[in-house]
Amino acid sequence: MTVDKDSAEPVVHHGLEGVLAFESEVAYIDGHAPELLIRGYDIADLAHHFGYEQMAYLLLCGRVPSADELAGFQAELADLRVLPEPVLDLLRSAPENAHPMAVLRTAVSLLGVFDPNADAIDPDSLLAAAKSLTAKFPTLVAAQTRLQAGREPVAPEGAALGHAANYLYMVDGTAPPEPLRRAFDAALVLYAEHETNASTFACRVVVGTMSDMYSAVVAGLGAIKGPLHGGAIDGAMNMLVEIGSTDRAADYVDAALAAKRKLPGFGHRVYRAGDPRASELREMALEMAAALNGSKGGDSKWFDIAIAAEKRMAETKGIIPNVDYFAAPVLYQLGFPLNLMTNVVASARITGWSAHIIEQYAKNRLIRPRARYTGERGKRLS
Ligand code: COA
Repeated sequence: MTVDKDSAEPVVHHGLEGVLAFESEVAYIDGHAPELLIRGYDIADLAHHFGYEQMAYLLLCGRVPSADELAGFQAELADLRVLPEPVLDLLRSAPENAHPMAVLRTAVSLLGVFDPNADAIDPDSLLAAAKSLTAKFPTLVAAQTRLQAGREPVAPEGAALGHAANYLYMVDGTAPPEPLRRAFDAALVLYAEHETNASTFACRVVVGTMSDMYSAVVAGLGAIKGPLHGGAIDGAMNMLVEIGSTDRAADYVDAALAAKRKLPGFGHRVYRAGDPRASELREMALEMAAALNGSKGGDSKWFDIAIAAEKRMAETKGIIPNVDYFAAPVLYQLGFPLNLMTNVVASARITGWSAHIIEQYAKNRLIRPRARYTGERGKRLS
């Protein structure tokens, strides 16, 4: 609630739209340009030149690593990939119909219970927890993917496989071909950080009370699960499957708009002219479609449907696709099922959350907004 100087009336910023809640050196978004900078570097530049570990180092340590620093960081992450047995047991014993994000959220909470240093908030301990979570999220999500398909989890490889390659290896049981590893790596980089989105804000709100890092990450997971945030990627892929063929795309979009339904993967609170991450993923999706067309098991169908629906959305409502729209067919083609894509997004976003969590602890002020009261007054019990 701020006060409008002319009317002296409190102004409510519904959805906190446009409100600057704190200062940050992690990311910069210009919704009009459109532009996304991570620690000063353009997101497209990072997606083209960085693997996920470099991106993670940039986010967690604030600068680009030297070759030696990167090698050391990769080795550290590789050593931290294995899950405590009770956490694996939890994944195995979760009911089949439990929401995969609810299971992930619970597993991360349990990781905190097994970290003897979970309540420490000094910079070294925070960095150690961030590395541990960054390394373990892929093991969790890959195990969920395999268990859902009735297969045993694959134990992580050592440092011989990098973060993205090991992730796909734990899903498929074989090391991925280089073009697929590269596409996945770039997708993880694109998802790693996005300023004050709802889940990052949730993390910072929890840190604002000086609670612990695991509690903050669990709050982030709860927020990113929602269909208006990270959950939109599952919705986007479900939509492409529902559309089913390119010739049905226009009718599908028209019917959804007529029914005032929001199409998952379209629209953005900050980007109105285009999401720079979506532009990268669109290119990636097209390249993947071309590479897959005619190849064994390959199928460009989902990309073709996505392009057809995007075209109709542009012609009618003029709403832009966001990051989730083209990421959905990319992740689907990489072997992730329809209902586990948000989990993959969260596994990438852990480094962005961690960067913000570390920053919030370093210059904390309790986050405590106000509400304009619209209820009754003066009521009495007797
Ligand atoms: N499908 C259809 N119409 C949409 C739309 C979508 N995905 N997103 C926005 N619109 C429409 C709104 O209905 C509104 O139309 P109106 O002016 O005729 O009422 C107009 O576009 C403006 O949207 P607004 O409601 O102001 O956007 P917002 O900033 O409140 O919401 C999102 C942003 C992301 C929550 C919203 O676009 C959405 O729900 N998208 C789908 C979920 C998604 O993909 N989320 C991931 C974001 S990275």
